[in-house]
Amino acid sequence: MDKKWWKEGVVYQIYPRSFNDSNGDGIGDLQGIIEKVDYLDKLGIDVVWLSPVYDSPNDDNGYDISHYQKIMDEFGTMEDWEELLEALHTKGIKLIMDLVVNHTSDEHNWFVKSRKSKDNPYRDYYIWRKGRTDTPPNNWRSNFGGSAWQYDKVTGEYYLHLFSKKQPDLNWENRNLREDIYKMMTWWLDKGIDGFRMDVINFISKAPGLPDGDSEVGPGAMGSEHYVDGPKVHQYLKEMNKEVLSKYDIMTVGEMPFVTADEGAKYVAPDRNELNMVFQFEHVLFDEGSKGRLGKPRDWKLTDLKKILHKWQVKLQEENGWNSLYLNNHDQPRMVSRFGDDKEYRVESAKMLATLLHTLQGTPYIYQGEEIGMTNFPFESIDDIRDIDTLNKLQEEQKKGNIDDLNEMMDVVRYWSRDNARTPIQWDNSQHAGFTTGTPWIKVNPNFKEVNVKKALNNSESIFYYYQDLISLRKEEPIIVYGDYQLLLEDDENIYAYLRELEGEKLLVILNFFAEKPEFKLPDDISFQEQELLISNYDVSKEEGIDKINLQPYEARVYKLK
Ligand code: GLC
Ligand code: CA
Repeated sequence: MDKKWWKEGVVYQIYPRSFNDSNGDGIGDLQGIIEKVDYLDKLGIDVVWLSPVYDSPNDDNGYDISHYQKIMDEFGTMEDWEELLEALHTKGIKLIMDLVVNHTSDEHNWFVKSRKSKDNPYRDYYIWRKGRTDTPPNNWRSNFGGSAWQYDKVTGEYYLHLFSKKQPDLNWENRNLREDIYKMMTWWLDKGIDGFRMDVINFISKAPGLPDGDSEVGPGAMGSEHYVDGPKVHQYLKEMNKEVLSKYDIMTVGEMPFVTADEGAKYVAPDRNELNMVFQFEHVLFDEGSKGRLGKPRDWKLTDLKKILHKWQVKLQEENGWNSLYLNNHDQPRMVSRFGDDKEYRVESAKMLATLLHTLQGTPYIYQGEEIGMTNFPFESIDDIRDIDTLNKLQEEQKKGNIDDLNEMMDVVRYWSRDNARTPIQWDNSQHAGFTTGTPWIKVNPNFKEVNVKKALNNSESIFYYYQDLISLRKEEPIIVYGDYQLLLEDDENIYAYLRELEGEKLLVILNFFAEKPEFKLPDDISFQEQELLISNYDVSKEEGIDKINLQPYEARVYKLK
């Protein structure tokens, strides 16, 4: 196994709008992050992934970029950004930037020029087509609802947008566009960043002729079979790797909705020279019911989740690839509300889930606030929702006549909305949880008096210190990083257990996923002389044997066996 810093590290994702506001305008900013670098250092993380801070009209909170080499005014200046990089590097923390190059904002200069005429040099930077008598060029739907095409009267043609109509898709077939993107990436790398997280990067290559989609075939929105892992995506990533990535000691992780494990392995197999890791989505899509995110989640069984994570562990191990480990981010509900229990066992279940993320094979990603067990928001009215994805999709349902009032859907919104993850970090129990002295751009979760950083830091039993322990264990025990993975108790519906093995040492991980109290039985064929408890979320006596364990609700234990 090749040793790499990005395999040994732990990544912390910052969604800047919601992290910390330094100037009282209600919006998190770069100086706000700088104020908290000591906090990140205390947690012990190795890498920060910063969600977009580039110039943007904020149709999709910065994922609609109007200038790749400028900082959004609301977040600060390029000098602030440089100060942040310096502050992180001084603490030995690396910085990876979000790279959003499937699309730009419609306010990006390239698009402003592109839309002006049919024969300007930037026309072909985007995907323009004639309509079919009064209808768009094909039946593709946007991932945020509605048609994926927007008519533009200036030239009488439609442009493709897989996300909002203010996010036109770039045309990767165009060599000049690709060169411009590589130049821009090189410019950031030369400023000293340590890598990229690449937004929906497996969508960049569209099938020739842009054929109509078939809802029976596509894995996502109508038409998705013609751009998810599209025909030239590997060619483009190899080119990007050769021209840019390979010249630096950096890490790369590609966000890849609907990618399968077989395809995923191709993106990360080291000898193919594409990316280091992918964010796969199978385990954050598996609980969707028949109506997707417009309906209740389906009941899931632990074996459903295990099957998915197991498949990725085994596949990438076979191919010498590397996993990224996450259960939530700025697009997903809070992990403790979704996979754990955000009420009675909030603390225990948050620690149990953290144990999973930090002991599987791969690089763990912590989403801001996860380390204090932040929960979903009890949204009561659609007026509290800011997310374009939630709002667009609900408005579409309303237009179709499926609902009268958007507020009928609040159950669904409370479960699925991306805004659950986007409420401000709860720093303390003062007004607005210490996030801002002004009015926050999105409401603070009312549980902030109970759940906040200050309280966590004052309690040695808090989720925060459990994360700190997990992170330092990773540094002390190479088996956690480099050990082989082997699933135990495959069919157990309560317990997720596995072994990691490295040079004669074994790591045994036992996770009780629910509030019941199942009995754990150690499989007979696991032999060892000595056991050492490395971490647990309940008090456990060192003498206790491990052949049989009566597990507590959401109990997690990690043993080293010799
Ligand atoms: C990715 C981002 C998400 C964004 C979308 C379009 O999925 O994570 O926040 O809305 O791409 O850029
Ligand atoms: Ca601010």
